[in-house]
Amino acid sequence: MLAIEGGAPVRREPIVAKPVVYSEELVQAIAEILKSGVLTAQHGKWVKAFEAELAAYLGVRHVAAVSNGTTALHVALKAIGVGPGDEVITTPFTFAASATAILHANAVPIFADIDRETLNLDPASVEEKITERTKAIVVVHLAGMPAEMDQLMKIAERYGVKVVEDTAQALGAEYRGRKVGAIGHISTFSLYATKHITSGEGGAVATDVTAYAERAKLIRAHGEVGKYSYEILGYNYRMTEIQGAIAYHQLKQLPEMQKRREAYVKALLDELAPLEGDLLTIPKPKPYMKHAWHLVQILLAMEKLRKPRDWVVEAIRAEGVGNIYVAYPTPLYKTPLFQRREGHGLGCPWTCPYYKGKAQYEPLPNAEWAAERVATLLVMPNLTEQDAADTATAIKKVLNAVRR
Ligand SMILES: Cc1ncc(COP(=O)(O)O)c(C=O)c1O
Repeated sequence: MLAIEGGAPVRREPIVAKPVVYSEELVQAIAEILKSGVLTAQHGKWVKAFEAELAAYLGVRHVAAVSNGTTALHVALKAIGVGPGDEVITTPFTFAASATAILHANAVPIFADIDRETLNLDPASVEEKITERTKAIVVVHLAGMPAEMDQLMKIAERYGVKVVEDTAQALGAEYRGRKVGAIGHISTFSLYATKHITSGEGGAVATDVTAYAERAKLIRAHGEVGKYSYEILGYNYRMTEIQGAIAYHQLKQLPEMQKRREAYVKALLDELAPLEGDLLTIPKPKPYMKHAWHLVQILLAMEKLRKPRDWVVEAIRAEGVGNIYVAYPTPLYKTPLFQRREGHGLGCPWTCPYYKGKAQYEPLPNAEWAAERVATLLVMPNLTEQDAADTATAIKKVLNAVRR
């Protein structure tokens, strides 16, 4: 009997995905920060060390650490000059920030459809959405799966638009041997607690273009040049020294943590292989991609199941799989924010007099298809191969019980 119906769960001790952050060296570093009283990046060394380390890891010239992945996107969009009247194309099958950061920059998000095999932007759909107002494309590497960068960069070049890589979910992923986040014109990272490296909250902007990096650093800190002289509109989006120290040590731990993620995912995929193409499909990286496995996206064969997707996810969770959820249940254009179009108030940016377009938020078939059937496992470095085996057992138990 299924646990959701009163039966015994597969796991009595639920699986909980959580970050692995503790190290003696880090505790020492934080103690030194506290003793020194230098808590801010301006006077400290840790945020600068993290920026240098991330730049070296990615192979880019410049990194600016910021307060989170959302502010990183806002900074990146403003650094490349996105503003009123502009359209920015992105995917609707992502976390809200990929699109709301476009609104923060006072530009209009335009959604293109996704590809069913990668769940990332479909380059052909992106090209269809380009207008003379398109300034940039926010390319999301969802779940750690690289987007089709060659095709997207070619389209960007053809139409003279910039590519912002939203790499929040994909630190360490590669596309044709290059790290994602080092391919577009500018890229952004999140260091939220579920991400590949974390400082609780945190973010970063990376670019090879010196002018963008200089602007990003100004926008991050009040647009201030010299003492109390403000060149441009800026914000306070700085990272603290304690966050910087944690982020630096996390980056050092990344290869080891990534091995653990990969071992968990390999065990899970092996166990679920008999269900592939029957009750579920898991998008896999193409041969020229390296997946960073932030999430395992499971596409359920809903036509073969007697219960709705949300019930199935709850049933798997009830078996003790605490790291299952749905990312994402609603394409962004269907959410009240985009349906009501209130934005900054009085309808801006959509009703901004500088905006001459007509953003239509019509259904995109592949995004709707994915949102209806996806079930998501959060992958974290604390998860073991035993956790993977139990997860697969729970998934098989539930799906077989509700098979039509
Ligand atoms: C694809 C994507 N973009 C942006 C963000 C925003 O990052 P943060 O939560 O650090 O603001 C997230 C975070 O969850 C994300 O998943």
